[in-house]
Amino acid sequence: MSRSAHPEHGDPFRWTGWLALAGTVSLGTALRWMLAGQSLPVGQFHHLRSAHVHLGYYGVVFPFVWLAWGRLGLRIPGPRMLALYGTAVAASTVDFALEGYAPVSIVGSTVVLATWLAFAWPHRVRIARRDWLAPVFPAVVCSAVAIPAVAVMAARGNPLAQDLVHSFLTWLLLGVAAATALRSTGFAPPPPCLHLATVMGSGLALGILPHWGTRALLALQGYLYVRAAMGSRETAVLRAAWSILGAGLVAVGAGWVPALATVAVAGIHYALLGPVLLTLAWPARRRVWQPAYLVLLLASCGAIGAAAWMPYPWWPTLTAGLGSMVAAAWLGLGIAGILGRRAGAGPSEPPGAPVP
Ligand code: HEM
Repeated sequence: MSRSAHPEHGDPFRWTGWLALAGTVSLGTALRWMLAGQSLPVGQFHHLRSAHVHLGYYGVVFPFVWLAWGRLGLRIPGPRMLALYGTAVAASTVDFALEGYAPVSIVGSTVVLATWLAFAWPHRVRIARRDWLAPVFPAVVCSAVAIPAVAVMAARGNPLAQDLVHSFLTWLLLGVAAATALRSTGFAPPPPCLHLATVMGSGLALGILPHWGTRALLALQGYLYVRAAMGSRETAVLRAAWSILGAGLVAVGAGWVPALATVAVAGIHYALLGPVLLTLAWPARRRVWQPAYLVLLLASCGAIGAAAWMPYPWWPTLTAGLGSMVAAAWLGLGIAGILGRRAGAGPSEPPGAPVP
């Protein structure tokens, strides 16, 4: 049911990732306009937010991660497993949007989690290696332990549930998504175990244990990104995108920027829609648009993060407008990729091919 893929076998992952990306950014745009005061006939904010977050992590992050692993010759789900996974993602997203946590979304999420664990398992041998993928296995296992704990804590009204959510979102973001994107670049990996400690510490710092020791690890994580980006021969845009993420982590770790909820939302969106997806999903032949996109994304995430200091009534509308432009950029890339393919683009440049 699993295999290592060559690039030409990556299409189902690419399609899954791009379809989910289209759904995620569309839901995100609707949410932004709802936050700006528009009443849209699309459902309850809380449920749609839940569908957006889950579709983003289940349907965008992991398929693009597996696509990259396949290109590296690592073990990834086979066609039947991916079909089951895709069905679970689609069913749970619809259920999250309509009902929130309900039987279908719980069963779908269980299938998703089991698949993550099954394909993280081979990475246990990398824990003590000088490899960007060293934190993959512990990050997935710790998240798998945290997720049911969140469900129990949330049901009991324990306020720590939200902090634990931020811990595992960070472990998956830094330990799986960013780690895979970095492995796909020419950036030199940090010494064995150091990256593992900084990823796990960052999740604690941004979630359940915001202590000076964990914040120091968060700052160190940022420094590792800046150092790796500066010392590489990747494109200037990729080096800038990763350095900006690194600088942001240093700033939050050092306490120069407060870890407010708006800052967290801005940081997650910058990391995923910036360095991670620029590395894993941006089509190589559209690279010319990357600088303009990066500026737009910085403006959009800057507006989200700065919301706490901007009491103007028009600020949420500005934020929604910028977010819509970011969403339009990805939808446009996806459509251009499909049209380009129909017009006979070669297999070396399929829609959504990762930057080599
Ligand atoms: C791959 C794409 C994306 C992923 C994986 C993603 C993921 C997430 C995550 C994890 C959260 C929860 C953050 C937290 O609790 O701190 C979130 C919230 C949100 N996202 Fe996204 N997102 C994506 C794209 C977008 C886009 C393009 C927009 C806007 C156009 C957007 C709008 C929102 C909004 C409005 C919220 C709720 C913020 C709040 O409650 O204050 N997202 N998203």
